[in-house]
Amino acid sequence: MCGIFGTIGANCVTNTLLALHQLEYRGYDSAGIGVKTECGLQIEKSTGRVNALKVDFVAGKVAIGHTRWATHGKVCKQNAHPFVSYDGNFAVVHNGIVENYLQHKLALQRQGVEFASQTDSEVIAHLLAKHFDGDVATTLQKVCNMLTGSFAVVVATSRDDNLYAYKRGSALCVGKGKQGTCVCSDVAVMEQFASSVAVLPENCLAVLGNSVDLWVEGKHVEPCYFAPSHTDCDSNQLQGDAMLAEIFQIPDAVRQTYDYYFASGGLCLDKKQVNGYKRVYFVGCGTAYHSAMVGCSLLQRLAQMDCQAVVASEYVYDSFPTDKHTLVVAISQSGETADTLKAVQKAKRQGATVYAVTNVCNSSLCFEASFVKFVKAGREISVASTKAYNCQLVALTLFAVDFAHAKGRLSARARSRYLTCFDKVPSACKHLVSQSTAFALMAKRYKQAHLAYFVGRRLDFATAKEGALKLKEVSYLPSEAYPSGELKHGTLAMMEQGVLVVALACEKDLVDKCCNTVAEVTSRGASALVLSQYPVSPTSNQVQVVSLPAVDEIFAPIISVVPLQLFAYYFAKGRGCDVDRPRNLAKSVTVE
Ligand code: M6R
Repeated sequence: MCGIFGTIGANCVTNTLLALHQLEYRGYDSAGIGVKTECGLQIEKSTGRVNALKVDFVAGKVAIGHTRWATHGKVCKQNAHPFVSYDGNFAVVHNGIVENYLQHKLALQRQGVEFASQTDSEVIAHLLAKHFDGDVATTLQKVCNMLTGSFAVVVATSRDDNLYAYKRGSALCVGKGKQGTCVCSDVAVMEQFASSVAVLPENCLAVLGNSVDLWVEGKHVEPCYFAPSHTDCDSNQLQGDAMLAEIFQIPDAVRQTYDYYFASGGLCLDKKQVNGYKRVYFVGCGTAYHSAMVGCSLLQRLAQMDCQAVVASEYVYDSFPTDKHTLVVAISQSGETADTLKAVQKAKRQGATVYAVTNVCNSSLCFEASFVKFVKAGREISVASTKAYNCQLVALTLFAVDFAHAKGRLSARARSRYLTCFDKVPSACKHLVSQSTAFALMAKRYKQAHLAYFVGRRLDFATAKEGALKLKEVSYLPSEAYPSGELKHGTLAMMEQGVLVVALACEKDLVDKCCNTVAEVTSRGASALVLSQYPVSPTSNQVQVVSLPAVDEIFAPIISVVPLQLFAYYFAKGRGCDVDRPRNLAKSVTVE
């Protein structure tokens, strides 16, 4: 959620501001910077974007910065990080949640400490001052031992020119480069500042000076450095809205993901392993959950496997039979989603094998999984996930095909026919993005809609869910998805003029069923937009049909979502929404 960064060296202020711009996608409620200068710790904070920060002090020795996604306390300047201890000696930035902050806050208040904010984070700064034992590192360790929850903390102090950091449950990495050492919540942001990066292990204390020293439970540990990867299709480099740029990258990104799947060893599971699994869970959150639904449906269909798509947070708190014969396919664009990480940790405790599908190398999920399949979407900046979804679908479709083949349920011939059929997918995506003006007009046509329903059956239901999520998250139009057959069990009561129903029919045997649904909703006053790769004749002027390029049905979800992504984008633009920074959201949800 929140983005944190800290660095040491002559350019520390400039570099911290640069990093904050890149971290803004993790939270944009407020931003702040703390710099150790000749005059002590100087702090600047502002609500809203990093651009709003007015920083007069450019010279400093050490700097820390923060972009906030509010959890505790409303969006205001007082609640922006960094927080400074009551004695003025410690400045703290924090990502995560300190669950027992209230107990410490009340105790400190009883001792006369005044709090400036409503956050859980401020308590860390005051505890550092209260328990300072002459050594910042041991004091930070002591304070973190007093805290519960999951958090990543970076501390600058007036007492020396080091940076101190602690990681428990929330991602944090350290780096070394020509300009000095640095610490950050986001591996991908490090590539600009460090030539070597190391991900901090759990419960790790880090001291950054000219070099980086790490301790876990009092024992000195060596950082495992790697060279940060430079991402393809980097949306940061593009002008205009990242969401639109990222949709335009889909044709190349799906091709890259397909090629990389094979270049990185294909399925990576042998026949013995595949036959050893009795059940497969596909877990993820939000958009990643929708790709889990597609992966699950295809694996059931092609391999006749007992499998289930589960929302990661539900997997954590409900009882899903799991043992050593269980494979958990965990899908996450960022690889940092707290709910997904908790789900895989639980699955591992119960003996399951974890197979990660992620867009970010060296993300926390990679370290939890036995198998990692990267999707090659390139860096995704927009809070609304688009290209990563299409790429997840490519990887999961190939996974299902190869798994079914390894299980003996799909012949070599059928497998190779599917693989050849993929060839049409990138060009189909390209055709659709080249029609973006048509989708812009369509969005304009329905701009008066006050409610939208997305409907479909089987694979189309997952696409419907993703279409509804995309539209609501960027435009705030109430929109929900239903399996088409469910409408008549209650939701039909909502149909009237001003309601838009988006119906998907990408599987031939379901087209007639879809037309029946459309007739039912339009006869009650709703407008309908039908997406199909098969011929559908509009039965009234309330029905508009989008003809999709023909691809094999197992690949249809990869392309049928593209018009919905474009529709959501243009609909939101028409309403004047900030598409890349929707209200109340953050790109990476690193708290439960
Ligand atoms: O990074 P992840 O794929 O784990 O993120 C999961 C969800 O938070 C994410 O897909 C979210 O739903 C997006 N904002 C959807 O556009």
